[in-house]
Amino acid sequence: MSAPPGDLLAGLTSSLPARERLGEGAWLLRGFVSSSEAALLEAARAVAAQSAFRRTSTRSGGTLSVAMTNCGILGWVSDARGYRYDRLDPLSGQPWPAMPALFGSVAGRAASAAGYAGFAPAACLVNRYEARTKLSLHQDRDELDLAAPIVSVSLGLPATFLFGGQERRDPTVRVRVESGDVVVWGGASRLAYHGVAPLAAGEHRLAGACRINLTFRKVALCPGALCSGGRMDG
Ligand code: SIN
Ligand code: FE2
Repeated sequence: MSAPPGDLLAGLTSSLPARERLGEGAWLLRGFVSSSEAALLEAARAVAAQSAFRRTSTRSGGTLSVAMTNCGILGWVSDARGYRYDRLDPLSGQPWPAMPALFGSVAGRAASAAGYAGFAPAACLVNRYEARTKLSLHQDRDELDLAAPIVSVSLGLPATFLFGGQERRDPTVRVRVESGDVVVWGGASRLAYHGVAPLAAGEHRLAGACRINLTFRKVALCPGALCSGGRMDG
């Protein structure tokens, strides 16, 4: 007798280890926020109701395929001038929505579980991936504070997360990230190249036809209007 595909998949998922090392100081924590999926998605919707998802321009004149918004004291902004953190949402001219308390607590707990106690993020970038959208390999290096890790929470449709080394050309590991999984990278991996492969179309029971990713960042305020910027395309 053959099992229905859903049961087969559930069996596969549960046999994966609860945590997987992706590199030195980099961990995939499977199902770490599974019990809060619905509440996290609801909080992300409330953020987007105040500061809408938008597709931003890159310095090279392109447009990111992934739609973004932010919450927290600072938000990551990309435009023709480059990449930076800003206190104001350039669309609304208002401060970014406050970081929901649940976001802060989840980020702190995940960071601790990966060995980074006391993580207090100033910014949460909220990415929305629709079918076929992707995030090409890049480093998160606009934060200026490289002592703190990056905490990345996956919600909604599954995706393939790419995690490489310090150089763009370094080999990458490909891991499937499911709703409720968290990836944390810091220490020797803090500047690792990472990205997301084109999203497969699907329907998630809570998020619908998209994947929502929250990345939490501790940011040191930069002295000038523009602070550096890695390269990021499409
Ligand atoms: C990011 O690198 O900002 C997002 C990563 C992800 O969506 O998993
Ligand atoms: Fe990133």
